[in-house]
Parts: sequence; C-alpha cells; structure tokens
Amino acid sequence: MSTSLLVSNIKNLILTEDSPRNSPLRGADLAHLPSIKNAFLLVENQRIKDFGPMKNCPERADRTIDATGRIVLPAWVDSHTHLVFAKTREDEWVNRIKGMSYEEIANRGGGILNSAKRLQETPEDMLFEQALGRLEEIKNYGTGAIEIKSGYGLTVESELKMLRVIRRLKESNEMGIKATFLGAHSVPMEYRNGNRQGYIDLIINEMLPQIAGEGLADYIDVFCEKVAFSVSETEQIMEAGARYDLKPKIHVNQFYCLGGIAAAVKHGAISVDHLEVVDDSDVEALKNGETIATLLPSAPFFLNDHIPPARKLIDAGLPVALATDFNPGTSPSGRMPFVLSLACIQMKMLPEEAINASTLNGAFALEWADEYGSIARGKAANFILTKEVPSVAYLPYAFGSDWVKRVFIKGKES
Ligand code: NIG
Ligand code: FE
Repeated sequence: MSTSLLVSNIKNLILTEDSPRNSPLRGADLAHLPSIKNAFLLVENQRIKDFGPMKNCPERADRTIDATGRIVLPAWVDSHTHLVFAKTREDEWVNRIKGMSYEEIANRGGGILNSAKRLQETPEDMLFEQALGRLEEIKNYGTGAIEIKSGYGLTVESELKMLRVIRRLKESNEMGIKATFLGAHSVPMEYRNGNRQGYIDLIINEMLPQIAGEGLADYIDVFCEKVAFSVSETEQIMEAGARYDLKPKIHVNQFYCLGGIAAAVKHGAISVDHLEVVDDSDVEALKNGETIATLLPSAPFFLNDHIPPARKLIDAGLPVALATDFNPGTSPSGRMPFVLSLACIQMKMLPEEAINASTLNGAFALEWADEYGSIARGKAANFILTKEVPSVAYLPYAFGSDWVKRVFIKGKES
C-alpha cells in the first residue's frame, strides 16, 4: 500500500536538484547550494515524489508535518567509516595524552593490531549487535547512507567475519550501506620480519577470491602509509582488486606524501581519503583524474595532527567530500554535524561547501548519487528536519548544539 508524507512550510529546503548531476561538484561549484525558501517536500513509497515552493503544495497526503521555521536538507552520506570494531581504545588515547605518538603505538603492535586482536576474539553476533548500536546512534545525527570497511580482521577468517557482519547490517537496515575490503590495513606482526609479501599474497590469493566469490565487498582499500603499505604494495593490491572488479578507495597521505595519490588516480580510484598532507604533485595528479578527495577532519582533530588543506584542493578545482572515519583509533565519533563544523572552522570551508561535500559528493564517493545525497525526484527519501534555526550557516556554526531534530530514512522516521 502506498503512503505519502508531506512536509510543508519548510523555511528553507536545501540542496534541491531538478535534474540530478552525473559528476561530483568541483571547485567553485561546491559553494553553490540550490535551495527553495518556503517550500514543501512530498514523499511517496519511500522516495521523493515532489518538492517546490508552497504555492504548488499538494492539498493533502496521508501524513503532514508542519516545518515552519525549520530547514530540511538531505541526510548525510558518510563515505568512509570503520564502524565494525570490537572495542574502544581510550587506553591508547591516554598514552597519547602522555606524549606517545600514533605511529609509536602502531609500531609497538598497538593501534590497528590491537583492534585486530580484539576483533578476532569476538563472535560475529556480538560484532553485529555492537555495530547495529552504532548505526542507530549515527542515524540520530542525520546519516542516511554509509560506507563500512573491514580491516580489523587481518586473517582470512576474521576479514570474512567482518564483511559478513557488514552484509548483515546491509540486509537488516534501511540505511544505504556499502562494504569495502581493507585487508591491507596493517601488516600483522608475524609477517613483519622479512615476510611482508607473505601477507600481501594472503590478501591476493586467499582473501580476495573468497570475498569476491561471496560478493562481500563493493570496493577495495589499502592503507598506503609508512606504518602500513608502500606505494608499490598498494599498486599490487589495487591491481589484484581490479581482477575482481573492485574499484579502489584508498587511505593515503595521512602522515606523509609518498606518491600514493598519483598511483590511486592511475588505478581509477573512486576516492583518496585523509589527505592531511598534500604536495603540489598530489594536486596535479588529482587534476588529471576523476578521483574524489575525501577529507576526514575528525581524525586530525583527535590526533592533534595536520589539518587537511581543503582550500588548496577546492581552489585547484577538485571535488572534495567529507566523512567521519568513525573508528576506535583516530576518530571515535560518527557525528557528521561535528565534521561539518571542523571543516568550516579548521579547514576554512564555507557552510555551503561543507554541506555539499557531506551529502552529494559523499554519494558520488560511493557511486550512489542516483539514490542519495540531494533532494531530487526519485531519490530515496533520506532527509533531516532541523529544529527552528536562523540560517544555513548556523548549522556548522552551532558546533555544540543538537540542531538535528528528526531524521527520515527511506521516508521512515528513525
Ligand atoms: O582511517 N589510518 C588508517 N586507518 C584508520 C585508523 C585505524 C585505527 O587506528 O584503528 C584511519 O584513521
Ligand atoms: Fe579510515
């Protein structure tokens, strides 16, 4: 049975599209946020049926919500998370307060390897329940679609376990979910003394065929970094992924510029993520491709590290997306509104740029812009209704205030 929902008297309906774009917003276009003042939004069968100025508002629907004084905007598309994990790591965080660096902790077998040990010991059902709780939490912040990575398994069995948890989340949830295989997140200790290639071979010859065979992943990721995988190792793994039609989304330039961005662009990466440090050759490489630069400002905020040079990237005409990087080591938060505030406060993005980067460009970073990321006819009815607020700029400005009032995913209030 079809049911309709009408949201009327919307003070400002944000990020409307009459004809959906087929490529991400780049450069100066990121600051353009189409909107309709005093608007309505009509939802039918979980999808956006219509929207426009109040003078064209339909007379009735099965349900009506009066949005006087409130803004409606598309739900966030969080295109980079590690939401499946077994245990938080506040003990390591206290060690960092005392002066130890993230890399020192990683080199001692803490960090990702610590999370891997915990995850290997944790039953699949328990991981699923914990992850479901986190999904429920972030829905309340307004997230309507999300990418989730493996990468805390680091054995054939545990990588498969993680990806099966993600598959169960996909099946049991209204939220749009895509899975990324990140077996190359860290080299396990037993392979570190002269046998790194042994682990890479395990990824390529054992993990990938099983994951592809079960259709468990949509993308492949590698942590390309001094503490993790070199550029040539990253290329090997991207090439192996391509044999199974898994496009890359790559962790790169978190701490060092190693040339990984150019390699990722060459291999047709959908996105390169982190980019806390960026040199001119990285910018040139991005200019020559379609790859989206996904910035994760809560990670450097939490690590007290370099701020991603968003202005340099946007002003070079590049497409930028924003995501949370929700994970227990570098960003124990899935709160997209805070990411928007950090993007504006620390990275000098305009409120309009931050909103576009967190919605429509996030959707492009998941190749899901036909379904999510804007208010367009036919797209999933994923949207946020704010409290009464004075303006669009107020949203990232009011960084400590819970201005997300109600969240609708596929037309259903979460
Ligand atoms: O995106 N940098 C690599 N991976 C995660 C952190 C993982 C961890 O510390 O557990 C990130 O920051
Ligand atoms: Fe990450």
